[in-house]
Amino acid sequence: MDLLNPQVGEYVLAHCTPADDVLRELAVETAAAVPARAGMQVSHDQGTLLTLLVRLSGARRAVEVGVFTGYSSICIARGLPADGELLALDVSEEWTAVARRYWERAGVADRIALRLGPAAETLRALPEEPLFDFGFIDADKGGYPVYYEELLARLRPGGLLVLDNVLRGGRVLDPAARSPEDVVIKELNDRIAADPRVTSVMLPVRDGITLARRN
Ligand SMILES: C[S@@+](CC[C@H](N)C(=O)[O-])C[C@H]1O[C@@H](n2cnc3c(N)ncnc32)[C@H](O)[C@@H]1O
Repeated sequence: MDLLNPQVGEYVLAHCTPADDVLRELAVETAAAVPARAGMQVSHDQGTLLTLLVRLSGARRAVEVGVFTGYSSICIARGLPADGELLALDVSEEWTAVARRYWERAGVADRIALRLGPAAETLRALPEEPLFDFGFIDADKGGYPVYYEELLARLRPGGLLVLDNVLRGGRVLDPAARSPEDVVIKELNDRIAADPRVTSVMLPVRDGITLARRN
């Protein structure tokens, strides 16, 4: 299902604050180095939305599940104050090596701590305290329910969780969709909408973004 008319998508991209050279070059390098995976990167309008959400929410301590080559982490880090911290979780040494280079170039490397390893294990090892003001989930879809629970348990009241790809190309609407990832996301979407611990809204931005604010 085409969720967004491509011309509308182009228009939207052309009407948000433009990417600077660092983000532009990161997108070009990612597309050249891993063409089959470059689509995993957030689009620039999504990245700008992340910067704005971090800034508007006044977050200082953020966490990201799913770094890849670092586009979204730069956008999150840029929304943080100078003494802010982003805990960035991923399993790939190769892709995050690219991210590290671009964090340096973007001038945000000092606010980002990268932890390599399965994110569920890294999160479970953290104390169950209100450690974070902001969380972004954009990793393996099967892990989303665990990431949601583990992050919510460590989010301060008033903190914001953002989940990407919640529409799964429109497959969440298809009763015949049977892929494990689609089923997991479909069930999680239902659960979040009924979750009394959060106030949530799903935005049809690109592949769908859910905002869930902890009550
Ligand atoms: C969609 S990409 C993230 C894109 C990134 N947010 C960006 O804008 O460039 C998903 C990432 O999740 C990572 N990942 C997959 N399984 C993971 C796991 N179990 N724990 C942590 N990260 C994982 C992958 O290595 C990949 O870099």
